[in-house]
Parts: sequence; C-alpha cells; structure tokens
Amino acid sequence: MIERLKNWLVGYQKEETQKPGDEERMEVLKKGPMPRHVAMIMDGNGRWAQKRGLPRIAGHRAGMKTVRHITRVADDLGIEALTLYSFSTENWKRPKDEVNYLMGLPEEFLRTDLDELVRRNIRVGMVGREDELPDHTKRAIEGFKEGTKDNTGMILSFALNYGARSELIHATQRIIEDVQSGKMDKEGVSEALFDQYLYTANLPDPDLMIRTSGEVRISNFMLWQLAYSELWFTDELWPDFSRELFYQAIDDFQRRSRRYGAV
Ligand code: FPP
Repeated sequence: MIERLKNWLVGYQKEETQKPGDEERMEVLKKGPMPRHVAMIMDGNGRWAQKRGLPRIAGHRAGMKTVRHITRVADDLGIEALTLYSFSTENWKRPKDEVNYLMGLPEEFLRTDLDELVRRNIRVGMVGREDELPDHTKRAIEGFKEGTKDNTGMILSFALNYGARSELIHATQRIIEDVQSGKMDKEGVSEALFDQYLYTANLPDPDLMIRTSGEVRISNFMLWQLAYSELWFTDELWPDFSRELFYQAIDDFQRRSRRYGAV
C-alpha cells in the first residue's frame, strides 16, 4: 500500500503542462467556431482510484488536478464559460468520509489556485443550492467569489449541491411567488424569463457538454440548459482527461452542424 501511495504521489506531482505543438494545435482550433460555454460531468474518479488499489478520495484528489489543467486549457482556448459538475444533490448519499472530503476540496482549491485564477482574470462562481452546504464550504465559495469578482475573463462555475430537477422546481416556485405578489403577470413567463430564475442566470447555455468515464447519460445535469447542446462522451476516466482529449472534443464540436430544429 505504501509503495502504491508513493507511486501515486509521484504521478500526482506531474502537472500536465503544454507540450511542443500545443500552441499550433490551439491556433488551428481558434480559427473554428469555439463553444462559448462548455459544461463537464467529471465522472470516474472512484474507478480511477479503485484500479490503482487506492481509496476513492485519492481519485477525487487526482480529479482536482484535472480541474486545474482543464481550466487552463479552456482559458487558453478563449472559452467564455466552463461549468464543472462537482457534487450533485444525490451525492449526499455517499459515505460520510467521502462527502466530507469532497466538501473540503473548494477550500483546498482556494488555497492552491486562487492566485493563478486571479492572474488569468478568471471569475469563479457556483451553481446549485449554496445554503445547504457546510459553513466551511460556503466560506470557500465566498472566498472565490470575492477574490475574483473584479475579473472579466472566463467564468468558472462549480456545480455544487446541484440537481437540475430541484433547480427547475426552485425556479418555478420563485416565479409563482412573483406572479402571486403582482411583480409580474402569468403571460410574462417566457423562456427568456425562466432562464433568469435558474442558477445559471448569468451564463449562456452550454454549446458543448462533455462527460468522461464511458457513462452516456445526463444524470440530472442542466436539463433545461442542455436542450440544444452538443454532447461528447469519452471512456477515459476524469483524472485521465487530458489536454489532447479536450482538443478532440472541440475539434468534433467544430465539425458538427447545429441546426436548432431548422433544416
Ligand atoms: C464523480 O466520480 C465525481 C465526483 C462526484 C466529484 C468530482 C469532483 C472533482 C473532480 C473535484 C472538484 C474540485 C473542486 C475544487 C470542487 P465518481 O466518484 O462518481 O466516480 P465513479 O463513478 O468511478 O465512482
């Protein structure tokens, strides 16, 4: 076990950085239509750890490293918004230790990555039910929001305690309240207005949704917002999701023809 942990630590130290040819690759991709908003279901951390005989939390730790390098790639490509499904409303059912570990990751990420995010002019936000998070997690999220509030570049959102069905119910309840209090009338409820009641009110709909680990489903993620998104799946587990795979996803996106129901 010690040997395995040591090997894993060595691997963990290796940050995925740009390799020769990356600049050229990105320049080519930048000439095509770039998705404004990319949403990702980061799946497979547990399996990644299991395959190595490690505890599941080692997979989440490695997954956080992938969050760091994928954020860099998205920013380098000029993507406007990146939303990462980090904890679903269903994930509370996991063992307590795992939940606690996941709830501690935003604090750790704040400590290790805030400076770089500020340097990159990235604004951090969250989508999901913030009020139900533990206080220390809320403080970390507030720390991110406060520390990056003046930034004007890419918006990096963590979907935390997020579930699309609960988001839709919450939005509907608030709309009913506003209609009942006379703030607006029923006829004023349009798709554009509904958007404004979602956690993602300040974001464009995702153009591209990526899911790792071979699962081909949406899992209660952005059900409203993904209506016309291009979906892209890979068998690779999230900790192994690389720069190269991200380029491939963008390249595939650029070859698709988006018709939004027209011919
Ligand atoms: C799903 O994999 C992954 C999660 C529930 C957690 C994802 C979180 C991160 C990658 C880190 C987020 C970082 C911050 C800063 C919030 P799984 O555990 O369900 O994998 P499995 O299907 O193989 O078990």
